Amino acid sequence: MRVAELSPAWYFFAMKVVVTAGPTREFIDPVRFLSNRSTGKMGYAVAAAFSARGHEVVLISGPVALEPPATVRTVSVVSAADMLEVTLAEFGSCDGLVMAAAVADWAPRNTAERKIKKGDKTFVLELKATRDILHEISAVRTRQVLAGFAAETGDPIAEARRKLSDKGLDVIFANDVSGSDAGFEADTNRIVCITANGDEVAWPLMPKAEAGLKVAETVERIHESRKG
Ligand code: CTP
Repeated sequence: MRVAELSPAWYFFAMKVVVTAGPTREFIDPVRFLSNRSTGKMGYAVAAAFSARGHEVVLISGPVALEPPATVRTVSVVSAADMLEVTLAEFGSCDGLVMAAAVADWAPRNTAERKIKKGDKTFVLELKATRDILHEISAVRTRQVLAGFAAETGDPIAEARRKLSDKGLDVIFANDVSGSDAGFEADTNRIVCITANGDEVAWPLMPKAEAGLKVAETVERIHESRKG
């Protein structure tokens, strides 16, 4: 680890942080896929924030229309299975993982090699659940800080608390994605930060760049507290 200098008054140990961002695509055939509304803005803001604060960042990104920050190493992936494989490979050597990606929960059971023709008026698509990346990472984690996001349209706090516990996280950032000023596609976000020690803080509506900095500071604090 190298020592980074933020200000003359504050020295800290730089981390290697893995950040996932964007949606995944689950192909039905060569021209069609299942995906979601994620644009990657929140995850890219988190990656940029860690980098600006002196950390080494690996950004694992699903297909998005954003330019990755020049200072981070970006690995492009397409499907949930690809994202799982790359995240597992990068995880062992990192100090923290922030899963901001909107990973598809289902994928077609089979992907047709050739374009499926219109044919009949109805078409039944069989889906299988994808593997949960955070859940699998949680089983192999040692010292790393684990952070997730919860995209909710119902009761964000209750659902986020369930995910925090089920996925063995240190912190979860809950956002209600049903409005237009927060969550998917927006440039702003309204997050409730819930930590495993029970703290729950509602951050006001703010630009995603600013929310990214608060996410990075939160992960830094948890990492620092482990060393004490
Ligand atoms: N996540 C993951 N692997 C998946 C699905 C989600 O690691 N296959 C991560 C997301 O990146 C996020 C957290 O789990 O950090 C919560 O994701 P979310 O979509 O809110 O919840 P789900 O676990 O998919 O649960 P549900 O569909 O019940 O809301």
